[in-house]
Amino acid sequence: MNIINLNLGDRSYPIHIASGLLDQISSILSEKNRGQKWIIISQYRLMELFGFDLMGRLKSSGFTTDFITVPIGEAAKSINEFSRIISQMIEMNCDRSTSILALGGGVVGDVAGFAASTFMRGVDYYQIPTTLLAMVDSAIGGKTGINIAEGKNLVGAIYQPKAVFVDPTLLKSLPKEEVISGLGEIIKYGAIKDKEFFNEISNSLENIESFPFEKIIYRACEIKADIVTLDEREGSIRRILNFGHTIGHALEAHFGYGKLRHGEAVSYGMICAGWISNQLGHLSDNDYQRLKKTIEKLPLPMLNNFDQNKILPFVKNDKKTVSGKLNFVILDTLGSAITTKDVSDELILNSLKVIQ
Ligand code: GLY
Repeated sequence: MNIINLNLGDRSYPIHIASGLLDQISSILSEKNRGQKWIIISQYRLMELFGFDLMGRLKSSGFTTDFITVPIGEAAKSINEFSRIISQMIEMNCDRSTSILALGGGVVGDVAGFAASTFMRGVDYYQIPTTLLAMVDSAIGGKTGINIAEGKNLVGAIYQPKAVFVDPTLLKSLPKEEVISGLGEIIKYGAIKDKEFFNEISNSLENIESFPFEKIIYRACEIKADIVTLDEREGSIRRILNFGHTIGHALEAHFGYGKLRHGEAVSYGMICAGWISNQLGHLSDNDYQRLKKTIEKLPLPMLNNFDQNKILPFVKNDKKTVSGKLNFVILDTLGSAITTKDVSDELILNSLKVIQ
C-alpha cells in the first residue's frame, strides 16, 4: 500500500492508495474505534455497490454503524439535504464522538464533509472517494460545502478529514464519461506542476484502456497534498489548482450542470487558459500545442454552438474574483503555473473561439 502524508501539523492525515483497499478499511480504522457511532453518508446506488459490504465488514469488526443516503447529483448539496442529514444524525443518537465516512464522489464528499464540520461544532470524518475526480482532487484538501440559490459552494468550510482511502478498483464500476472527466483534472496536475508527469499522462492517453491508474493517481495525490500543505486556505499557491476552472465553471454554468461534466468543462477551460497564456507571452507555441493536443486525446463531448458573450458574465461571477479583479491561472511553461490579474475580457472572448 502507498501512503502519502498531508502535513498540516496536528491536522495532518494519511492518504492511503491501494487496489482492494476498501476491504482493508475496517482493519485500518480499528485503532480509531472507541465504541462511537460510525455513519456512512453515501448514495443508495453506492451503498449497493460498495457501502453495504463495507458496513458488514465494519460491523463484524465491532464497529457500531449506520448509513444515510443523499440524492444523486447536485441536489444532495442543498440546504434542505444538509439539514436532513443533521436531523437524521440526531435521530440516530449521534454525538460529538461520532465519525462520518463519506463514500462517494465530489458531491457526497462535499456535503458529508460539511455536515462533519458543523455537527455539534465538528466531528471526525474520513473520505472514501468513488470517482476518479474525487480520488485526485475533491477528497483531498478539506474543501467542503453546499450550494445556495445564489451560487455553488457559497456556504462551506475548510475542514480536513482524518484520512482518505483511495481504492482505484472502484473505478471499474464508473461510467466511462466520469473517468474521462477525472482524466481532465489529472492532466491539470501535470500542466501546473510537473512536465515529466504531463508527458507520462500524455503518452498513457494514447491507450486509455490500459491507463496506469494507480500510479498516476498516486502522483496526482502527491502534487495535491504538497500544494495543500503549503497553502491550506488558498491564499497563494493553492490557487494554481484552479487552472482551467474559471472558464470551465462558466461553461458548466452556461451549458447546465450535469450536461457537461466538471472535468470535461475544465478540460475545455484549460485549452482556453493555455491559449491565453500563449497570447500573454508565457506558454510557448510548442507547449500550448502539446497541451491542446493532449487534452484533445480525451473523447470530450462536442460543445453546441454558443455565443461567447453569454459565457463572459459567468466568468466574471467566478468566486475567485477578489475586489472585482479576476485571479486568472495561466501557464508560464508546461509544468509551471502562475496567477495574473491581467486577463482582459477580449482575451477571454477570443479564447472561447478556440474551442468552438
Ligand atoms: N479543487 C481545488 C482545491 O481543492 O483547491
